[in-house]
Amino acid sequence: MSELNIGIVGLGRLGRRHALNLRDRIRGAQLVAACSPLDEELGWAAEQLPGVHRHHTLEAMLAEPDVQAVFLVTPTALHAEQIIACLRAGKHVFCEKPLALNVEDCQKVEAVAADYPQLKAMVGFVRRFDASYQDAAEKLQQGLVGQAYLLRSQTCDLNDENGFFVKFAPSSGGIFMDCSIHDIDLARWLLGSPKPLRAWATGTNALHPALADCGDVDNGVAMLEFADGKLACFYASRTQAHGHETLTEIFASAGRLSVGANPRANRVDISDAHGVRNECVQDFYQRFAEAFVSEAQHFVDAVRHDQPLALSLADATEATRIGLAITQALRSKQVVELC
Ligand code: NAI
Repeated sequence: MSELNIGIVGLGRLGRRHALNLRDRIRGAQLVAACSPLDEELGWAAEQLPGVHRHHTLEAMLAEPDVQAVFLVTPTALHAEQIIACLRAGKHVFCEKPLALNVEDCQKVEAVAADYPQLKAMVGFVRRFDASYQDAAEKLQQGLVGQAYLLRSQTCDLNDENGFFVKFAPSSGGIFMDCSIHDIDLARWLLGSPKPLRAWATGTNALHPALADCGDVDNGVAMLEFADGKLACFYASRTQAHGHETLTEIFASAGRLSVGANPRANRVDISDAHGVRNECVQDFYQRFAEAFVSEAQHFVDAVRHDQPLALSLADATEATRIGLAITQALRSKQVVELC
C-alpha cells in the first residue's frame, strides 16, 4: 500500500501532539484531514497543518473518500460511537484510551469490528510501545527474574493548581479509569493476561476536595487479585509536588524489574548544598513522547502491511471491565468480584 491517508479527530491537549507526529514523524502516513467542533482548534490546524482538509464534524470527515484511517483523540464518552461510525464508513481506526466507560459499549465496538475484519481497530495503550516497558516485557519473557507474581504500578501526575482535571473529571470516568487504566493494561500484559478475580480500592482527596462532587478522588489505591494467584497494586495521584511519575515494579521469583523508579528528565545530576538530585519529567507527554510515535508507527505499519496489532479490542474491553470494578470498589468501599 502507498502512504496511508489519515484524518484526525480532536485537536485538544493530546490531539495536537498526535497531529504533529503524523505530520512530521510517522513513515508511510499522510495527514489529510482534521476535525474539531471548535473554530479555535480548526484555526490551529489551518496554521500548523497546511493543506489538511478541515471539518467541524466526524460525519463530514468520514464522507471524504481519501481518508483511509482515523485517529480519534476525543473525550472518552465519545470513543465507542465514533469508532463504530469510522468502521461503518470503511475506515481503519486508532482511538485513544480508554475504549469506553462501560463494558456494553466496549462489546458493541467489538461486535461491529468483527463485521469488518479487513479493517484494523486499536486502542492506544501507549506504554506497550515505550522502549523501557518493551525491554521489561522481553526480560520477563526470557525468564531473567523468574516467575512474576506481583505487579505494583503507579500513575502520578504533577499537582495542577489550575485544576484542569477537576473540570475533566466528570467525563473521564474517575481517576482509575483515566490514569490507572494504563497500569491495569500493563498488569495484564506483563503478568500474561491472567483472569481477574476480585478488586478493592479506596482513596482520598488530599488537595482537591471539589473532586468529591463527582465521586472522584485525587489519590487512589487499588488491589487486584487474579485467578492464578498473581496480584496487582495500583496507585494513582493528581497531587505530586515533583513531576509526573509513572513507576512500575514487577516482583518475580528470582528478582524484580522496575521501570521509571526515578522519573528523571535527563541524565544530569545536580550536586550542591541541598544534596544530589535531578530534574523530573513534568507530564505524561514528556515521559512518553517517543512511545506515542512508536505507537502511531505500529498502527500505520499494521494497516499498510496488513500485520497483526500488538493489542486487541478485547484487551481494551478487559481494561475497562477491571477499571470499572476498581471504581465501583472505591465508591462502595466493598470488594468487587470480577468472575
Ligand atoms: P481535550 O479535551 O484536550 O481534547 C478533546 C478534543 O476532542 C478537543 O479537540 C475537542 O474539541 C474534541 N471534541 C469534543 N467533542 C467532539 C466531537 N463531538 N467531535 C469531534 N471532536 C470533538 O482532551 P485530551 O486530554 O486531548 O484527551 C483526549 C483523549 O485522549 C481522552 O480519551 C483521554 O483519555 C486520552 N488521553 C490519553 C493519554 C495517554 O496517555 N494515552 C493522555 C491524555 C489523554
